Amino acid sequence: MKHRDIVPKLLAWFAQNARDLPWRRTRDPYAIWVSEIMLQQTQVKTALPYWERWMRALPNLAALAKAKPPKLHKLWEGLGYYTRVRNLHRAAQLIMAQHDGRFPHDFEEVLALPGVGRYTAGAICSIAYNQPTPILDGNVMRVLTRVYGIVGDPRERKVNTRLWQLAEELVQQADQVGMRTSPSPHASRISHHFSRPCAQFNESLMELGALVCTPRQPRCGVCPIAKHCVAYQEDRINQLPGTRRRIRATRRRFVAFITQKGGLFLVRQRPAGVVNAHLWEFPNLELAPEDSDLKQAACNVLGVRAETLELLGTIKHSITRYRITLEAYRVTSHRAAGISAARGRWLGRSRLDKLAFTSAHKQILQRLRDE
Ligand code: ADE
Repeated sequence: MKHRDIVPKLLAWFAQNARDLPWRRTRDPYAIWVSEIMLQQTQVKTALPYWERWMRALPNLAALAKAKPPKLHKLWEGLGYYTRVRNLHRAAQLIMAQHDGRFPHDFEEVLALPGVGRYTAGAICSIAYNQPTPILDGNVMRVLTRVYGIVGDPRERKVNTRLWQLAEELVQQADQVGMRTSPSPHASRISHHFSRPCAQFNESLMELGALVCTPRQPRCGVCPIAKHCVAYQEDRINQLPGTRRRIRATRRRFVAFITQKGGLFLVRQRPAGVVNAHLWEFPNLELAPEDSDLKQAACNVLGVRAETLELLGTIKHSITRYRITLEAYRVTSHRAAGISAARGRWLGRSRLDKLAFTSAHKQILQRLRDE
């Protein structure tokens, strides 16, 4: 059977080729959980310094449960998708209250934690505890659709169910490999890479997807399982995985107003329950692309008339399906001193540096600093 050929080859390949990532040096489920949450929507090289900093600041569950939200937001600043950090906090408090402060072992209990879906629960249970729980993310989908020649949109229900089933059969096969090779404590010749086969197998799938079986120009020449790969054998690499129907991107335009009073800047905190909740920003609003009355917009946001507006810069970024343009204007107003406290807070540079800003507004802050 194909699984039997693939599993030992991937384990052997992983033992030789795994990147030395810091969360691979630990079995602490807390540390692995944090890494998996970061890696849900963030690339490895971006997540690395965040993970290191987080683990120094909050080395265990108790420290996280006790931490104050502003500190957590600051540690997460720039990673985006901030619901993740609030879920980490809530989950840590729940584990302290309901699991005696010990990270749960049981897959269903891990899955029940806020912010943990089927993929993340599978990753934590396999990597931290070597349980035969499957994982399926974008990388793994790509590997499996190619190796098994699975056509159709991998996120469509039927195809997706098939892929999860394959991922499960494979990790169970890895578990069997472990049972066959590790019973004797004297068998020193047994290679190390079979000691935690479920963990290492799942990580090998992720790693193959990240390093070899890449979306474009995969490195089939060095792939340990090219011989078993339907896409490679049938020259269908470029057709697999099947493409998703693209959701059309929507353009959105925001304008932000930078007001200064002495050395202080007017900033405000986003409310709970919205995107980027609790993060800081300069007063801003959304405009239609064709709207040109910026002084009226400034007046609506600040509550006072603007004498001059000077464009400081335009920042482009994307969140989910939105292509966002943020124009930042410096405002001079004779009446800045009269801006109502309800519009925000006046804070100096050093205070601003300690607060967590949304990524786009952080860039405005950076530009102000560069002036
Ligand atoms: N992507 C998601 N989880 C990962 C992990 N543990 N190592 C590398 N990349 C990953």
